[in-house]
Amino acid sequence: MKIMTPRHGCAWITGASSGIGAALALELASRGWQVAISARREADLQAVAAQHKNIHGFVCDVTDRHAMAQISAEIEAALGPIALGVMNAGIYLPTALPDFDPTLFDRTFEVNLTGTVNGLAALIPNMVARGEGHISLISSVAGYGGLVTSAAYGASKAALFNMGESLAMDLKDSGVHISMVAPGFVKTPATDVNEFAMPFIIEADEAARRIADGLAKNKTHISFPRRFSFLLRLINLLPRSTYVKLAGRFMGR
Ligand SMILES: NC(=O)c1ccc[n+]([C@@H]2O[C@H](COP(=O)([O-])OP(=O)(O)OC[C@H]3O[C@@H](n4cnc5c(N)ncnc54)[C@H](OP(=O)(O)O)[C@@H]3O)[C@@H](O)[C@H]2O)c1
Repeated sequence: MKIMTPRHGCAWITGASSGIGAALALELASRGWQVAISARREADLQAVAAQHKNIHGFVCDVTDRHAMAQISAEIEAALGPIALGVMNAGIYLPTALPDFDPTLFDRTFEVNLTGTVNGLAALIPNMVARGEGHISLISSVAGYGGLVTSAAYGASKAALFNMGESLAMDLKDSGVHISMVAPGFVKTPATDVNEFAMPFIIEADEAARRIADGLAKNKTHISFPRRFSFLLRLINLLPRSTYVKLAGRFMGR
């Protein structure tokens, strides 16, 4: 599988008006990529784009399938073929049981899961036709197994792992590489509201460097910080009933 470089085309990052997406845009731009960034908040997008001449803002809601197809065509018209697509847009809405709010699940799945599918729909046919490309899905360590208050978020992120692995198998001979990213805690507007302890938390620019390094090596699974990710993967090897008891107790349940 070919490693995508700026020579093959541009990069497109969804959800890049803040946090990890914005930091990754700057990191890739500094590595020579022309970077298209999309999100809903235009002023924030333009503020990110203003930080590097290689970054270009495109307003788009990932939940709008038609708009996603249109934006990807606009990006290709402006910047050339999309060689690297990073499906990063995501939201975290904590579940607060015993109140069960199904709309919170709908909203989470719509952005994190369907939004990613809309990006894949816009990217895969063109990449397959060209016989090259790399699409990376930003999942989370919360997708490895259930975590407290993460019933909706964790389920959406677990689905991204399953979907990405399946696509990686199905696209194996197409020249299109699929990778999945599982960050631990990263300091962004999304985590700034958390009142609980966030072990091993790192800055967004550090996360961006780790993601860009993994993408440049065509890794299929990029996960960090290493110790936290390893620990979570290790306890996920336990029998599921033991995992549920242990992880719950560890998180105060
Ligand atoms: N921070 C962490 O600890 C952490 C850990 C693991 C995984 N992640 C994942 O990393 C990704 C980025 O999160 P972050 O922490 O950087 O959060 P963030 O700063 O809140 O960024 C989220 C981005 O998603 C965009 N977005 C949300 N809904 C959207 C929609 N409907 N259409 C288009 N864009 C939308 C937001 O832009 P607009 O509001 O302008 O649309 C924003 O640019 C997410 O997928 C998140 O689940 C984060």
